[in-house]
Amino acid sequence: MTDPEIHKGLAGVVVDTTNISSVNPQTNSLLYRGYPVQELAAKCSFEEVAWLLWHGELPTPEELADFQKLERGLRRMDDRTRRALDDIPASAHPMDALRTAVSQLGGMDPTLEQPNGILDPELNLSRAVYLFAQLPTIVAYIQRRRRGLEIVESRDDLDYAENFLWLTFGEVPDDVVVDAFRVSLVLYAEHSFNASTFTARVIASTLSDVYSAVTGAIGALKGPLHGGANEAVMHAFDEIGSADRAEAWLDDALAEKRKIMGFGHRVYKNGDSRVPTMRASLETLAEHYDRQDLLDLYNALEQAMGDRKNIKPNLDYPSGPAYNLMGFDTETFTPLFAAARVTGWTAHIFEQYAANSLIRPLSLYTGPAERHLS
Ligand code: CMC
Repeated sequence: MTDPEIHKGLAGVVVDTTNISSVNPQTNSLLYRGYPVQELAAKCSFEEVAWLLWHGELPTPEELADFQKLERGLRRMDDRTRRALDDIPASAHPMDALRTAVSQLGGMDPTLEQPNGILDPELNLSRAVYLFAQLPTIVAYIQRRRRGLEIVESRDDLDYAENFLWLTFGEVPDDVVVDAFRVSLVLYAEHSFNASTFTARVIASTLSDVYSAVTGAIGALKGPLHGGANEAVMHAFDEIGSADRAEAWLDDALAEKRKIMGFGHRVYKNGDSRVPTMRASLETLAEHYDRQDLLDLYNALEQAMGDRKNIKPNLDYPSGPAYNLMGFDTETFTPLFAAARVTGWTAHIFEQYAANSLIRPLSLYTGPAERHLS
């Protein structure tokens, strides 16, 4: 009998259909429900994009107004969540704290125990909206606690992106900063069957609940080969220090067989479709904060990586330094990604429930042949 073909890392394997987004490396495009992500980033609020991912169409003005009102009413953190976060050392990685908080929200949702409480589509949409509204509050709380700062309460007069920044910094920055942040959220919202989304779908396929699926997705996102790369890019920038040291640093890193974070992609081999949009926002931020030095370092490492390996940046490469310029702690970059991606994760969880088949692949056994205890 010939051995079955192994698809390590599921590379190149099409495991299901999806209506949510399409990633096309040939045309270098990413569409959310048919709309190019660049157009959405240029013209839509993050609330509109979230709605689009869940419902398949952009909201009407009335739907948007109702949704924004609903979201603003769900931002406040439950005292029990606050206590759960306070039990975690402030020095713990923010992704660990976030993962715990989302899991805890599941434990506090009594509707999960209702008949059909796990799968009911209306309840699940409410849970997605609740997670969407809660994650900025939780991430900002974690960030301020790390810095030993007083907690700031949400403001109902601010939209999602403005309020997220307000909660984190206690002030709403200039429009160019808010806009760059909004763009990053739109770009991070969805990306088909990436590792964390697939994790969420695997968990949903067992008919487990939304909170469990999102908790698992956060765990998958934390790794540096996925969402953790935006944090790792900034650590690399800190190590390098300045543009003139980029080439020597890269040569050493490659000689040590290190992976250069923020470069390469499983699907895009000729560049990530989201990078030009995020890079433009990074340039605006560098100008706003008078940090040409950071942009020079960005360009120098990109150039050197192109020369040495012909490998192009992915979205985490410009978003890492962009979040740094906005003032976020490096360790909170991946939680920002999670807050954005919870829209895509939940849309995929709904799609999985709607046409479910347990995800359960096979493996080829390579261990010892059958043997027996003496
Ligand atoms: N640095 C150095 N070499 C690389 C890199 C990199 N960032 N990416 C790919 N390569 C090399 C790799 O060593 C391999 O070389 P060889 O054939 O000589 O062994 C070749 O390119 C193919 O790489 P691979 O790891 O087999 O390709 P993959 O499709 O499995 O990996 C990846 C994709 C994203 C895991 C990888 O490019 C990587 O580790 N990148 C760094 C981490 C990163 O930036 N992750 C974010 C991904 S995109 C956004 C997101 O999800 O957050």
